[in-house]
Amino acid sequence: MSKSAPKKMSPAPAFPSTRMRRNRQNSWIRNMVQENHITVSDLIWPMFVIEGKNQHVPVKTMPGVKRYSIDRAVIMARKAADLGIPAIALFPNTPQDKRSESGEEAFNPDNLVCRTVRAIKSEVPDIGLICDVALDPYTSHGHDGILVGDRIDNGTTLKALVKQSLNQAAAGCDILAPSDMMDGRIGAIRKKLEKKGFSDMILMAYSAKYASAFYGPFRDAVGAGENLKGGKETYQMNPANGDEAIREVGLDISEGADIVMVKPGMPYLDIVTRVKQEFSVPTFAYQVSGEYAMFQAAAKEGMLDLDKTMMESMICFKRAGADAVLTYFALDIAKKLKG
Ligand code: PBG
Repeated sequence: MSKSAPKKMSPAPAFPSTRMRRNRQNSWIRNMVQENHITVSDLIWPMFVIEGKNQHVPVKTMPGVKRYSIDRAVIMARKAADLGIPAIALFPNTPQDKRSESGEEAFNPDNLVCRTVRAIKSEVPDIGLICDVALDPYTSHGHDGILVGDRIDNGTTLKALVKQSLNQAAAGCDILAPSDMMDGRIGAIRKKLEKKGFSDMILMAYSAKYASAFYGPFRDAVGAGENLKGGKETYQMNPANGDEAIREVGLDISEGADIVMVKPGMPYLDIVTRVKQEFSVPTFAYQVSGEYAMFQAAAKEGMLDLDKTMMESMICFKRAGADAVLTYFALDIAKKLKG
């Protein structure tokens, strides 16, 4: 869809000259006319990390997903790299006693995510590492930004996000992924990165990030769910809006984003298509925790075939125009692709 210029369709001659089933009669012909394909390079694996040694703790609301201590995260990163997965997105579950009103732990060069980046980079240098930029794993109130009164303050939060970005860049991550939805954050981060010598840092902007109930299981996984007071509607987008996503993406590109992202994934494929068609920039999508949980729950009840629906969902992302997909199924899909 996305690779070619818009096509003018000549109307097909009517049945029986046209029989659409001709190209579907055998798998070899179906394969030959297939428009989109999934490869392992399309996959980004989101991984949760915790403190401790030799820990792998299941996330209750995400069957099959675990939080790993750093030593285990390194082993899993090796596995992912050996399967050909190009990148991992790291999400720390910060110990509750290190969370604070303004999330200062995000600036600590020895915080959990920075130590994870250094450990994986030294043992598995061949996999890309993505660090989230947002304060929710660090704030005592679970918001992505800093409260002034009862509002998340844009200016105060921007300063914190820039500091968090530099801290994660210095730790050695390859991609910074601002997921906070503050206005102007891509520009502020890009400017500081240039100034501090990180001119090759890739910015993957969560550009069209919606205020979605599909993030529920993720908030459990990073321990921000029970902390969260109120919703994120004053910074994340209204699920009812599509044009607004185009404005958000346009701003992020003009401020210096290298990759833009749409999130959640499957219920928002129309946005993926619009963004890709409008801007022709690398466009990623995030199949979020709640989407993953739905597949797992339905499969557990015997309602859906997990393997088939998982693979079908991936090809749908590609058809919609996504260049890569963040998915908790990344390892399973990679294994399946390998045969
Ligand atoms: C934090 C962040 C969230 C997700 C990724 N980064 C949660 C949120 O915004 O509340 C959600 C990912 C998922 O649900 O899988 N800013």
